[in-house]
Amino acid sequence: MARIVAVINLKGGIGKTTTVVNLSAGLALKGARVLLIDIDAQGNLSMALGVRARRTLYEAIVDHKPLTDLRISARPNLDLVAADESLLLAQQAIAGRADWVRVLEQLVRPLRSEYDFIFFDCGGSLTVLNQNALMAATEVIVPTTVEPFSVRGLEKLIAQIARVKGSTSVVRAIIPTMVDPRMKQSIELLAHLNRTYGQLVMPPVRVNVRLSEASAVGKTIYEHDPRSRGALDYAQIVELLSKAWSFQPKQTAPASPSSSQAHPVAPAARPEPVVTGGGEVQTNVCPNCGHTLQRATVAGYRITYCVNCRYRRQELINGS
Ligand SMILES: Nc1ncnc2c1ncn2[C@@H]1O[C@H](COP(=O)(O)OP(=O)(O)OP(=O)(O)O)[C@@H](O)[C@H]1O
Ligand SMILES: [Mg+2]
Repeated sequence: MARIVAVINLKGGIGKTTTVVNLSAGLALKGARVLLIDIDAQGNLSMALGVRARRTLYEAIVDHKPLTDLRISARPNLDLVAADESLLLAQQAIAGRADWVRVLEQLVRPLRSEYDFIFFDCGGSLTVLNQNALMAATEVIVPTTVEPFSVRGLEKLIAQIARVKGSTSVVRAIIPTMVDPRMKQSIELLAHLNRTYGQLVMPPVRVNVRLSEASAVGKTIYEHDPRSRGALDYAQIVELLSKAWSFQPKQTAPASPSSSQAHPVAPAARPEPVVTGGGEVQTNVCPNCGHTLQRATVAGYRITYCVNCRYRRQELINGS
């Protein structure tokens, strides 16, 4: 049964879509079957993946079409139900329904056995659809920038999640995005996040122009520049979450359902896997805190890292 993951923050432009694309693409490269559902009327997800969809989530919500009729194959193992501005009308349509908060939950239920992960890419405000996504979610991932307003907004968002879900235990990860390690304020706020939310806080995704280039040309970061900082940072989070979710990499990836509605802008060539291995536990220990070090092979690097204190060492596999 798929884990249903809402990637949400009520602030706009803080890296939600970038996180959905590169987290899901990393999982798909590891052999996970992933479905992405864009619930933001901006429709950024299809642009970021470089695909065009004739049919969108609107038809599921308003015309009661099954998601299986609407999904397109964006990459091997990675399917997408796209959105566009018609979603604004769809939101009005469901607002009057008695079951308005369970519409997405009902739509994804029949697909849960087909996928390992279903991700909702939420919009940057508390819309009817975002509330639906929270209701349907078995897990929530919160990307956030490390700025004072964002960090304060995080407390409000977590309180909102608690109101909808009755608990904050569904919050699986907080992902600091666009972090500039040279800025004192970023480092201080990161330390604050770590103190407040502990192990929920993932290693930061550093600011990296390759990430914004990648979404502009409709590629994942692993396709655009697998050796970039952005690829390394997201791939490390893929490893950590795979482990937290006990997701086992598969040797042979099952084919993604094909669809006559798929219109890739560029042929979706199968990229070289950049996220490999199970991040197995090594016998060596962290030089900072003595915790057992983890290891992952990512984008041509061997990365050794500590989940306790954020120690990280990376070496090129075929080089110095
Ligand atoms: N780590 C990063 N470094 C540099 N640029 C980034 C990074 N993460 C995201 N971006 C860029 O920042 C912009 C906003 O990111 P994104 O679209 O992922 O945010 P969002 O939260 O989904 O926005 P919205 O609320 O509008 O949906 C995009 O141009 C994206 O390419
Ligand atoms: Mg977005």
